[in-house]
Amino acid sequence: MKIIHIGILGYGVVGAGVAKLLKTKKQLLESRIGTVLNLKTIADIDTKTDRGVDLGTTRLVLDANEIINDPGIDIIIETIGGKTIARQFILNALENKKHVVTANKALLASFGNDLVKAARKNQVDLAFEASCGGCMPIIKALRESLVANDIKSMSAILNGTCNYILTKISREGSNFEDALRSAQELGYAEAEPSLDIDGFDTAHKLAILNSLAHGMEINLKDIHVEGIRNITPVDIEFARSFGYTIKLLAIGKIHENYVEARVHPTMISGSNPLSYVDSSMNAIVIDADATGQTMLYGHGAGMMPTASAVLSDIADIARNIISGSKRRLPILGYPEDNIKPLPILSMEELYTKYYLRFEAQDHPGVLSKISGILGENNISIKSVHQKGRKSNGKVPIVMITHIAKEEWVQKALKQILKTDSVVGDPVVIRIEETDQE
Ligand code: HSE
Repeated sequence: MKIIHIGILGYGVVGAGVAKLLKTKKQLLESRIGTVLNLKTIADIDTKTDRGVDLGTTRLVLDANEIINDPGIDIIIETIGGKTIARQFILNALENKKHVVTANKALLASFGNDLVKAARKNQVDLAFEASCGGCMPIIKALRESLVANDIKSMSAILNGTCNYILTKISREGSNFEDALRSAQELGYAEAEPSLDIDGFDTAHKLAILNSLAHGMEINLKDIHVEGIRNITPVDIEFARSFGYTIKLLAIGKIHENYVEARVHPTMISGSNPLSYVDSSMNAIVIDADATGQTMLYGHGAGMMPTASAVLSDIADIARNIISGSKRRLPILGYPEDNIKPLPILSMEELYTKYYLRFEAQDHPGVLSKISGILGENNISIKSVHQKGRKSNGKVPIVMITHIAKEEWVQKALKQILKTDSVVGDPVVIRIEETDQE
């Protein structure tokens, strides 16, 4: 049986998970793939800590170049993370004609186009199933299974940390800090948790998925990103009373000459299947023309789910190698020459429904002043809710609008803030409705 030699750069949680699967699933992998996958070398700056994996004959070394420059290694797995040394190591590996597998969504979102070019130049594969949605086979779905479809829209929960926090606040009334700490203890959060809670991790994943869905270059910089720091139990309670759940969604929709790509807390009703996706779970609903709606659901983070996705890439590349057909699948789902520039809609141009919550002075005429300004800006109010008088003389006023343009809403909010009717910034949460609503 042919032997394919593998090196891993980065022996952290995911790297150790990959090593563990390569060792413990050796027989299953060999019988499924028809080749021996030999984990030859792992490189990490920490060669001392016991990761609980029996490495057998695998070498654990300090210097990544022992893998990158080893002519005997066919596939390199990058599980270091970050955008500095990981980027250089991958570029060097591609230059050395190694196939590369990475889980590094931040790197792909920022420099993926360059990595794709480098892989093309060197005629090797670059695979990244583990970069989006953990073990959900979303890359494979977009690149292969849905090849005959125009992807109309994608709507997804792609960050386990945020979903865990929102679920915990919603179910237990926890405060934000406690919920985040608990997510960190469970190992879901990034080393820098602002990547999670400020929405950037979700945006990285959306940038990658948009490219695969629509044949566009990876474009992170034009995605509108808002995180969940300002979501309070008060808004979660109000949302519940209107039949909505608040989720941090990645939304990607194709229009004739542009795409919509945004990440923000979103109110969704019970008719949206994503409203039932709780805790650290991830899910994506893809609406495509031939298939209609398809939903994938699974663990978006964690050692073994992520390692499982990395192994699926290793298996693909190994199967290519043994059948003599490298680069069988275009890296971004379309041959590089067919990838087109597609602009992302600017946020001011978005039309959607809004939940607005004001801390209003409890004075006569305040409600009519706020609704007057909204009306002057073309914003039609669907419903208004006012809770009883508070001890400090302020009352929360909540309004749900009909579909309005973001530009009008932002202009109206600025005008409302200039009046003496409200205190502090209003809370704005966009509402996403399904076709059935
Ligand atoms: N920090 C990420 C999450 C890990 O919470 O989903 C997986 O990308």
